[in-house]
Amino acid sequence: MAEILGMVTTSHVPSIGNAIAKNIQHNAYWGPFFDGFKPIHHWLKDHQPDVVVVFYNDHGLNFFLDTIPTFSVGAANQYVNEDEGWGIPTLPPYKGDAKLSWEIIEGLVQREFDVASCQKMKVDHAFTLPLKLLWPDEAVCPVITIPICINTVQFPLPSASRCYQLGKAVGEIIQSMDSDLKFLIMGTGGLSHQLDGERAGFINKQFDQEFLESMVTHPAWATQYTNHELIEQVGTQGIELIMWLAARAALGGHVKPISTTYHVPISNTAGGIMLLEHVN
Ligand code: DHB
Ligand code: FE
Repeated sequence: MAEILGMVTTSHVPSIGNAIAKNIQHNAYWGPFFDGFKPIHHWLKDHQPDVVVVFYNDHGLNFFLDTIPTFSVGAANQYVNEDEGWGIPTLPPYKGDAKLSWEIIEGLVQREFDVASCQKMKVDHAFTLPLKLLWPDEAVCPVITIPICINTVQFPLPSASRCYQLGKAVGEIIQSMDSDLKFLIMGTGGLSHQLDGERAGFINKQFDQEFLESMVTHPAWATQYTNHELIEQVGTQGIELIMWLAARAALGGHVKPISTTYHVPISNTAGGIMLLEHVN
């Protein structure tokens, strides 16, 4: 049977790519964020995942405002990064496994998640930078990737509760696969941030801390909130934390916390990083 090893969730910000390109990951500004990945690097060396399922949100690279699926799953053997206009270097293509993706897509549709399947999918900073943070020394990402994209850019957005259910279904599908593959689940986005409007720069440390705590002990906690309530709490772009919920739900009930980092700010964002190990 396929195995889920654990979950890594992290904020994604384009300027992480700039910090890497300029080799300033260890200066006073960036150090506390990049240091949050040190325990994760050790854990990855010990656990060696074969496949990473990445819950993330596209920001206009693959889907533009005229056509935005609520949930979409990559079904390609390769995913390509392109310039998004942030001035960060593009990263080399990512290995996919179309057959494995279709197994997940079929399982999701069977469970009444009518996802879009993407046999071509460009991946943006929300996908590429978190993977680079996990394997900084590898020129090419060393694992098979499966992108699962959740709309957070054009209303209506899926509810936190629906994203949680989606993640739970993905976890069940993986664990019912007749395969020796070892899976890591990722969720990228959040924590609190707002890039636009009167509240630009808004950060809510108290909510973020409560959210981080809930991820370990009562992961469905944030699903009590509507999207409007969540946006009030964490900002218009902070709603990206629904990716964390999907990733956490894929792990199921029992987890062992390995590391948590919370550092404010990285760019305009409250930086959060978490590694939870799956316990059978
Ligand atoms: C920033 C954060 C994001 O989530 C994003 O997609 C782009 C920029 C920021 O804080 O600068
Ligand atoms: Fe974002």
